[in-house]
Amino acid sequence: MQVVKTVSEVRSVVAISRDGGERIGCVPTMGALHAGHMSLVVDCRERSDFVVVTIFVNPTQFSPTEDLSEYPRPLEDDLAKCREAGVDLVFTPEVHALYPEGFETYVELESLPLRLEGEQRPTHFRGVSTIVTKLFNIVQPDVACFGQKDYQQQTLIRRMVRDLDMPIEIVVCPTVREADGLALSSRNVYLSDAERRSALSLHASLQLAKDRIQSGETDLVNIRAAMHDLMTAHEHVTLDYATIADANSLEELNTPTSHMVALVAAQVGKTRLIDNMVIEAL
Ligand code: PAF
Repeated sequence: MQVVKTVSEVRSVVAISRDGGERIGCVPTMGALHAGHMSLVVDCRERSDFVVVTIFVNPTQFSPTEDLSEYPRPLEDDLAKCREAGVDLVFTPEVHALYPEGFETYVELESLPLRLEGEQRPTHFRGVSTIVTKLFNIVQPDVACFGQKDYQQQTLIRRMVRDLDMPIEIVVCPTVREADGLALSSRNVYLSDAERRSALSLHASLQLAKDRIQSGETDLVNIRAAMHDLMTAHEHVTLDYATIADANSLEELNTPTSHMVALVAAQVGKTRLIDNMVIEAL
């Protein structure tokens, strides 16, 4: 496995593989790799011949009040996990390599970033779409894998790739959960035992929405209220949103459609967690 820090090194290593007729796969990450990330690597490995993992804590997707400096950066552990998973190349750039002085070009979608996460984090998705575009331009993968856990992020990336005619297959891989339902997240390490127990209310409220919709209930306003009540009944939980939306447009729904997604976000203690569940009407 090669580990490189510069754009030119990525380009020359990947070029050899591409010239040899290999299909290039990419898993963009911010590091602190857990089983969820590694499931993306496994999927990417199956779909490509040469797997590139990028590890970069992207400053432009953090707001000034967020946890950029505290974001976990266990690089040696991450590299060991990548090596074990058979990754071919890891790209771990410094901030100045991707954001040189005078940087002023951003990629921005119009409406998808305004909803849900965007309401709490107005500049977040501009940072995500910009860095993902840059990583795609650098690596030029044939296929790239993202997790369903960041539902709005993967929706936005798929839209961007379609709208800008990027020749990349985007694969969305299922959320990996602990046995009790908690979605894996790099931020789970911040949770105390009591907060972790309360964090289970995110998954429980999504399951409640799914069960009630699939048992025929059609008043989604009511179901949203029940999701809200379930989560806020737990100590340490401050709810950001608990909603049911169209799975493609992410517009909030009051009555069911055939393809929906329930989404939740909450502050649990000092840790912000998100989760979602796709719901097909039966
Ligand atoms: O999901 C993440 O880890 C990040 O948002 C991504 C896609 C790597 C962009 O920084």
